Amino acid sequence: MSKILLTAALACCATGFGQPLRDRADAHHVKIGTAVNPAALANEDYAKTLAREFNQVEPENAMKFGPIHPAAETYNFGPADQIVAFGREHKMAVRGHTLVWHNQTAPWVRELDPEHLAAAMHEHIKTVVGHYAGQVYAWDVVNEAFNDDGTPRKTVWSVNPGYIEQAFRWAHEADPKAILFYNDYSAEAMNPKSDAIYKMVSDFKQRGVPINGVGLQVHFTKKGQPIEQIEANIKRLTDLGLEVQYTELDIRLPVDDQGAASAEDLDIQAKMYGQLVAACLKFPKCTAIQLWGFTDRYSWIRGTYRGFGAGLPFDASYKPKPAYDAIAAALK
Ligand code: G3I
Repeated sequence: MSKILLTAALACCATGFGQPLRDRADAHHVKIGTAVNPAALANEDYAKTLAREFNQVEPENAMKFGPIHPAAETYNFGPADQIVAFGREHKMAVRGHTLVWHNQTAPWVRELDPEHLAAAMHEHIKTVVGHYAGQVYAWDVVNEAFNDDGTPRKTVWSVNPGYIEQAFRWAHEADPKAILFYNDYSAEAMNPKSDAIYKMVSDFKQRGVPINGVGLQVHFTKKGQPIEQIEANIKRLTDLGLEVQYTELDIRLPVDDQGAASAEDLDIQAKMYGQLVAACLKFPKCTAIQLWGFTDRYSWIRGTYRGFGAGLPFDASYKPKPAYDAIAAALK
C-alpha cells in the first residue's frame, strides 16, 4: 500500500468506524439528526459519538412548554441552551421541539381562561422563539393536534379555535427566518390522520399561513408501514412546496430483561432503517432524517413500552448495530 493510501486508511478508521453518518448525509444535502438529553452530554462516549455522527440536534424534552416555562414569569433556558451550545461547537444544525403540545405543558397554563390562554401562548412563542432566533433553524410549532381518525384532538389549547394557524403566525413574527413545521406520529403513510394533516397544510399554503414543513415522527415497531405509502405521502406534501423531515425515528423491538433483541429482529430493523433513509433521499425536499436518540442507553422506549427496546442504531455501549450499517449504506 502506498504511503498516501495507508494514511487515508488510518484516518478513516481511527475511530473504528468508516465515514461518519454526518459526512455521508452532507454529500446528499440532508441532515442526520438526533434528539438529545442534556444530562447525557457529560458522558464522554455519548458526547463523542454524537459529535462524530450527527449534524443536527434537538432537545428531547428541554424546549417543551413545561420544562422551559414552568411558571408564568419563569423561563428555564439552561438545559436547552446547553444543547444549542453543543450544537454550535460541533457545527450542527439545531431543531426546536415543541411550542404547542397537549403533553408536558406547565400546570399553570391549565388554569387559564381562553383569552388568557391565547395571551400565554403568544407570549411563550414570542419569548422562546425570540430567545433562539438565529440559533434554532426549524421549529415544531404545533405537535400532535390530530387524533388517529383525523378529527382535531381536544386539548388545553383547542378551546381557542384557530390556535394552530395562530401559533404559526406568531412563530413567524418571532423569527421570520426560522422554518416552521407541523409534527405528528402515525401519519407517515396514507391514512385518515395524514389526510387531515394534508388538508390542513394545503389550506395553510393556499392562504399564506407561514408553514414550511411537515414532520413525520416515525416511531415504528417492526411491523412498520408500507414504504410505498410513506413515499406517496412525502410526495404529496413536497408537491405542495413543503419540506418533509423524519423527526423522531426509532424502531422498537421485543427485548429480554437485559434489553437485548434477537439477531433476526435486529436485521429486520436494519432493513427498515435502510428503506426509510432511501425513501427520504428520493425527494430533494425531504431534508432531514432525525432519530429519537441514538443509543439504547438513553431512549424513552423501555420506560413506555414494557418488553420493548433496542430501537436505535447504537447499543447501550455505543457499539453500532446492524441498523447503523444500514443507515450508512443507504447514505453511501
Ligand atoms: O424531568 C422530570 C424529572 O424532574 C422527574 O423527576 C421525573 C420523574 O418521572 O420525570 C422527569 O420528566 C420525564 C421527562 O420525560 C424527562 O425525562 C417525564 O416524566 C416523562 O414523561 C418524559 O417523557 C418524555 C415524553 O415525550 C413525554 O410525553 C420522553 O422523554 C420523550 O422522549 C417523549 O418524546 C415524545 C415527543 O416529544 C413527541 N412525540 C412522541 C415522543 C415519544 O413519546
